[in-house]
Amino acid sequence: MEYIASQDRYDNMKYNRCGRSGIKLPAISLGLWHNFGSIDVYNNSRNILLSAFDNGITHFDLANNYGPDPGSAEETLGRIMKNELKPYRDELIISSKAGYYMWPGPYGEWGSKKNLVASLNQSLKRMGLEYVDIFYHHRPDPETPLEETMGALDLIVRQGKALYIGLSNYSAEQTKKAVAILNDLGTPCLIHQPRYNIFDRWVENGLLDVLEKNGIGCISFSPLAQGLLTNRYLNTIPENSRMAKPHGFLQKEAFTAEKKKAITGLHELAQKRGQSLAQMSLAWILKDKRITSVLIGASSVEQLQNNLRTLDNLNFTAEELKLIDKLSEPVIQNSK
Ligand SMILES: NC(=O)c1ccc[n+]([C@@H]2O[C@H](COP(=O)([O-])OP(=O)(O)OC[C@H]3O[C@@H](n4cnc5c(N)ncnc54)[C@H](OP(=O)(O)O)[C@@H]3O)[C@@H](O)[C@H]2O)c1
Repeated sequence: MEYIASQDRYDNMKYNRCGRSGIKLPAISLGLWHNFGSIDVYNNSRNILLSAFDNGITHFDLANNYGPDPGSAEETLGRIMKNELKPYRDELIISSKAGYYMWPGPYGEWGSKKNLVASLNQSLKRMGLEYVDIFYHHRPDPETPLEETMGALDLIVRQGKALYIGLSNYSAEQTKKAVAILNDLGTPCLIHQPRYNIFDRWVENGLLDVLEKNGIGCISFSPLAQGLLTNRYLNTIPENSRMAKPHGFLQKEAFTAEKKKAITGLHELAQKRGQSLAQMSLAWILKDKRITSVLIGASSVEQLQNNLRTLDNLNFTAEELKLIDKLSEPVIQNSK
């Protein structure tokens, strides 16, 4: 059956301006790191993505290596673009990235011009797109001169293969240096993508200030700490959860008794607020006006729908914020 997007898809989403740019992003964006690979059930991936778009999520985030197999999440997106979302291309902000290992030899990762240009060409092919809206350097490269990496991002925009560029996992200091080079080149940085959630707060120690000062947006990845900040692990480790899966991105060893205690306390507070723990955790990030969007993952349409209802209550009392700090304090990570 032909897919027709919901008529009221723009009625309930909130759109935030990305720094001082012309672009607005949905307060909630969807990432395709997990659950969109060749090992996943295609119809489930498709339903999550279309349900997101039907609810005003206009931004899908990818990277060259998302899968598994690496590259297959881009292929899944390409298939959905071809079959369902092609008429809606101009309503979408699609991002990809390069920087992590993708192919063997000296050019398959990090930050050389060779890696970035070749990788984006591959990504465009896999997604069947003429251009991405945002292209990120995925992680800083300690060996390649920053001028070369930023020069490659500038080139890619001038070639029309990306409309905007972004940085991910750069520290405050690295961001400052990169932004200065990009401004000189005439291709300003649109957005930064760091990890940020109740448990992981390193961005508060300088990065968010650098972004605000330079008019750069911020989209926080793993806002639910890969599922820890949800009701997923309140009792046991469910069989189909990320922690139970063999790829090891969310390790059982990281699920300490201290973390479990913090999660239980936060869950109780969320319930008092009439929210799920996932909703409270996303709202907690969005309370900071420097945050443009939270970049969630979801393994089912139900999870996505639950997360969308975050927008019903984004407010916190001072007491609630204090309690969140107290409950999470023993497990907070403050450095990168
Ligand atoms: N730039 C980078 O270096 C980088 C790194 C990591 C991620 N990212 C981006 O950020 C995106 C999101 O990362 P993430 O997947 O780690 O985000 P996350 O939102 O912190 O975690 C998503 C996981 O949480 C669980 N979940 C989500 N909503 C739930 C709900 N309402 N109730 C119960 N469980 C729920 C699901 O786990 P189960 O699968 O167990 O059901 C889901 O897969 C990625 O797709 C990617 O685009 C970027």
